[in-house]
Amino acid sequence: MNAPALLGARLRALSGSSVAAQDAPGRSDFVDRHIGPDRAEEDAMLAELGYRSRAELVRAMLPEHILLDTPPALPAAVDEAAALAELRTLAARNECWRSFIGTGYHGTIMPEAIRRNVFENPGWYTAYTPYQAEIAQGRLEALLTFQQMVIDLTGLPIANASLLDEATAAAEAMAIARRAAKSKATRYFVERDTHPQVIAVLRTRALHLGIEIHVADADTLSADAGSCFGAHLQTPDTRGRLRDFSADIAALHETGARVTVGCDPLALLLTKSPGGMGADIAIGSAQRFGIPPGYGGPHAAFLAARADLLRTIPGRIIGVSRDAAGQPALRMALQTREQHIRREKATSNICTSQALLANLAAFYAVWHGPDGLRAIAERVHGLTRLLAHLVAGNADATGHTPPAAANAAPAPASTHWFDTLVYDGLDVASVRARAHAQRINLRYHDDESANGDGRPGGAGTGADAHAGTRRAQRLIGITLDETTTLTDVGDLAWVLTGHRVDEETLAALAAGFPLAGEEIPAGLRRHDAVLTHPVFRRHHSEAAFVRHVKRLENRDLSLVHSMIPLGSCTMKLNAAAEMAPVSWPEFAALHPFVPPAQAQGYHDMLAQLGQWLGAITGFPAVSFQPNSGAQGEYAGLLAIRRYLDSIGQQHRNVCLIPASAHGTNPASAQMMSMHIVVVGCDAQGNVDLQDLARQVERHRDRLAALMITWPSTHGVFEPGIVDACRLVHEAGGQVYMDGANLNAQVGLTAPARVGADVCHMNLHKTFCVPHGGGGPGMGPIAVAAHLAPFLPTDPLRSADRAGAVSAAANGSALITTISWMYIRMMGADGLRRATETAILSANYIARRLDPYFPVLYRGRNGLVAHECIIDLRTVKARCGVSAEDVAKRLMDYGFHAPTLSFPVADTLMIEPTESEPKDELDRFCDAMIAIHGELERIERGELGRDDNPLRGAPHTAGMLGSEWAHGYSREEAAWPLPWVREAKFWPAVARIDNAAGDRQLVCTLPLPETAVDQPVRTGRT
Ligand SMILES: Cc1ncc(COP(=O)(O)O)c(C=O)c1O
Repeated sequence: MNAPALLGARLRALSGSSVAAQDAPGRSDFVDRHIGPDRAEEDAMLAELGYRSRAELVRAMLPEHILLDTPPALPAAVDEAAALAELRTLAARNECWRSFIGTGYHGTIMPEAIRRNVFENPGWYTAYTPYQAEIAQGRLEALLTFQQMVIDLTGLPIANASLLDEATAAAEAMAIARRAAKSKATRYFVERDTHPQVIAVLRTRALHLGIEIHVADADTLSADAGSCFGAHLQTPDTRGRLRDFSADIAALHETGARVTVGCDPLALLLTKSPGGMGADIAIGSAQRFGIPPGYGGPHAAFLAARADLLRTIPGRIIGVSRDAAGQPALRMALQTREQHIRREKATSNICTSQALLANLAAFYAVWHGPDGLRAIAERVHGLTRLLAHLVAGNADATGHTPPAAANAAPAPASTHWFDTLVYDGLDVASVRARAHAQRINLRYHDDESANGDGRPGGAGTGADAHAGTRRAQRLIGITLDETTTLTDVGDLAWVLTGHRVDEETLAALAAGFPLAGEEIPAGLRRHDAVLTHPVFRRHHSEAAFVRHVKRLENRDLSLVHSMIPLGSCTMKLNAAAEMAPVSWPEFAALHPFVPPAQAQGYHDMLAQLGQWLGAITGFPAVSFQPNSGAQGEYAGLLAIRRYLDSIGQQHRNVCLIPASAHGTNPASAQMMSMHIVVVGCDAQGNVDLQDLARQVERHRDRLAALMITWPSTHGVFEPGIVDACRLVHEAGGQVYMDGANLNAQVGLTAPARVGADVCHMNLHKTFCVPHGGGGPGMGPIAVAAHLAPFLPTDPLRSADRAGAVSAAANGSALITTISWMYIRMMGADGLRRATETAILSANYIARRLDPYFPVLYRGRNGLVAHECIIDLRTVKARCGVSAEDVAKRLMDYGFHAPTLSFPVADTLMIEPTESEPKDELDRFCDAMIAIHGELERIERGELGRDDNPLRGAPHTAGMLGSEWAHGYSREEAAWPLPWVREAKFWPAVARIDNAAGDRQLVCTLPLPETAVDQPVRTGRT
């Protein structure tokens, strides 16, 4: 056989068909890789359930009138190479200019050791929120390191493990101040030189909490102090000014007010801390600690506070406790304090936050250490000084003033600054032209004021706004960062003055130029030591750093180990091809406030993704602004509120929420000051339609919205959904659909199909954004046409002063590329198959487990949707062990427990997703059935009620190596089934004592030699 014939034969043998068929357009094997069970496994599962096809199963479960008539209009799937190539074409339409815009976002360098070992490592990004702390000690330690870093930098004793972005962190701080202030005033003072996007979000939040935002100059504070319950001050402010607010804060405290200081973590290496000024709360963004701007996010915001505010702080706090062996162990502290768990009493709806980004920022601090960070801060400041010096016309090292600048001798508008210079009086048109020629972005303040961004100017009075506009005109801002080079400084000097300094002069000048001067005066300098914990000093060689990171990673169970069957969380595959583009500089390096023309690739990509999500949900308009599911809820309710107001229905304020709803639903409604009415559920877990009808009737005239999760959090498709929506509409209300369970709908049915008006989509569930150990998330909303005018507005560029919900117009834009890749590679057929498989797998698990652990709720034909709840409520009485013991015991089998006690106490909610192969589903079922066998042995008295593998779980290697005094063997404890031996995952600590840690809260890193029962430390002051 000649060579071409041989090749042809080989190819035919490989494919069973021709080259042409292999190359058929649209052919993609991604779908087969994303979906776990292959066709044979699928057939076996269907046979087990008694159905011939997935379609037949779905028709048995979903009534015909709910099913879509036609599939969502999506482009045909392409393979990963083609999808990446297409996205590269879009990426190329973004222009990466040098940006010196500042305004809270900065260029930064992610050390390659962090990129490779954390950012691009599924061991870090595929883990879930550390609810099962024994198998999450690594990320808990990294998050505690983040808290320690924030505590040190802000000089305040407690910090949480991240918030969504700087603007929402400021809004959370306002809510804390309101609750904690002694003052009964309803005004909140906001320093006018706070970043504009922060003011925009504060305005939105305040409006619906009955708070009046008073934007004014800090110099007027003494006059306003008595009339405000709190204040937001900012240093460095949006014009780069550094200020010491100590006296203002003391004066505000005299009136019973609480004070937040917005700050910058890099500046805090050199400048006085908010704690040092007496602030109650400090907020900011950790973005410039190694996280690319990403056209808006994701980044970790931080919040630190005085100890007396501990219980009002939103989000998660990591704390130190001990395990059953008395060893230090970490876990999320005081969880009942988490605001969304308080439901209608909540002051915040934060659930998913930015855990992965917080970990990255913490690792950045570990990598550089205090000396390295200080050196970065000093260099940035030094280059800024050099630039100011050049612009002032002192370009010549001999002191000769060049003629071009001799007359102007421009000086920055303020005297004290860190990395930002603002000039007034430069020829803006010429500066713009030169900047354009150099592909340099500066901040032109008049662009913002002209659009009524809400920057300066009191409470929106015409006079204030006018003064603000006048004041902002002709201001040009330049912010330097870690990436700035001497060449940049030379170019910037030319852009600003028109005078070019030659390279040699610049180098000579820089060589002798002092890093510090009077721009940070003695009173504003930082004097206390920061980041003194050994973790910030020990890991500076790359070898040590990588081992530190790996040691932590090894303590965490993630999707690289086994399935994580968390109901309601949709822990599906995060494919490598989906993740790749988040590292591309064309997407990662873009500042969120670059002129739109430079972000054309983003806009095209988001327009496509918006269209696809619209096709999937059935809605015509989408906003990407919300940074989590809960923020999506808030944005959706805001759209409803604004729509109702627009049609003269301001009085409608009642929000109906089923008892089974996730805590964020009532928390979001509460933040909108809605009146929450709880609707009951029937014995089958469905929303009780009769109760719904009663409540609709009772509140008919004031009904604003129903918030409903469908399929329900009970894991069933309520057939009554269409009637429920109709009832609400007939009474003049709107229907908000919580999209947490959209993974059961995609391609089969849709929120719009059943009558909803708005829904959020958790990109971090249905659309493959990884959970990152507790974030990032993304909660875009899709709305019906009548709500489209009320979608979130651009926080920087919109004239609408109360429509922004996040700091950046498109939220965490960078990670939308993941969902774009997913949908592009799946196509409509692939997505429908994924949904059907998720449902098939859930029903397969329900079928296998039901004889051992009864499935609590079922829908039509005894089927569940994409998840099932198994009932363990009788186990306690029968065997003396709890559902939690079962959850912990699963760790010994190498599994993360399903969702524990939500939405029903003492149950486990299992969601396998479509990505898990049948083998893995079977392993999980085998583990559960083996645990059932252990329960039976307890019941029969073969194992002690107090001493058994469930009560003792999880078992660590240390426990096995110590004296063994149990009534079951080491073998039973650690290797309960033969296959566990093949890849044993050892929990890092034994059962954690939550109560002990909550009694004595320690939310800082313990020193290596510190025992846990030493005195309480809530901070390093
Ligand atoms: C049903 C439901 N609604 C809302 C949320 C909140 O979403 P997020 O954590 O993204 O804010 C969750 C979170 O798991 C959920 O399960």
